[in-house]
Amino acid sequence: NTKACLFDLDGVIVDTAVYHFQAWRRLANELGFDFTEHQNEQLKGISRMESLELILGWGNVTLSEEEKVAWATRKNAWYLDLVMQMTPDEVLKGVPEFLTSLRADNIKIALGSASKNSKLILERINMLDYFDAIIDGNNITKGKPDPQVFLMGAEATDCKPEECVVFEDAVAGVQAGKAGGMKVIGVGSADILNEADFVIAGFEEMTIDRLF
Ligand code: BG6
Ligand code: MG
Repeated sequence: NTKACLFDLDGVIVDTAVYHFQAWRRLANELGFDFTEHQNEQLKGISRMESLELILGWGNVTLSEEEKVAWATRKNAWYLDLVMQMTPDEVLKGVPEFLTSLRADNIKIALGSASKNSKLILERINMLDYFDAIIDGNNITKGKPDPQVFLMGAEATDCKPEECVVFEDAVAGVQAGKAGGMKVIGVGSADILNEADFVIAGFEEMTIDRLF
């Protein structure tokens, strides 16, 4: 019996993945290399510092811990420049309608995101008020595919894992939800998200009865 829905942010509520990609690409370019959108898929759902490690590996660049922190800080500033230009019409299609229908059915709504910028983004797109709980990169010690972020979301909404449904666009996020013992609905491509219980292309095709 589903009592809560736990939503990833980037790529599920709003398409910030394109802004992350732009900012990471700028970092790579300034370090003298480039990477593809295909490689970018691996960065979805994982933390800022883990993303940096992967990207540096692709470019065969070695940096000291101090330099890594400095580059990650730079990337975040470039990313936030893009985020500050976001508007509420960037919320992905069907999301407000679906969240409104959850509220009407007394199903709790929580965010389960790796991002440390989640509240800022939800404010920018006018979505903060929908959420009963927000668990994000500022609260967790273990990133996806570890289930911690979603288990904390279950706890914050007073639900057991089996009463929660996770919405995820990232392979690591789908794995996190499954590892937490939850039903997982992938948002995106069924080829990439094949570990999800089922996959939707977008929220226009999502209805409450598919939660059960
Ligand atoms: C996830 C994104 O939601 O948040 C990742 O999918 C990103 O691409 C991660 O690296 C951390 O985000 P932030 O905003 O804290 O740098
Ligand atoms: Mg995501």
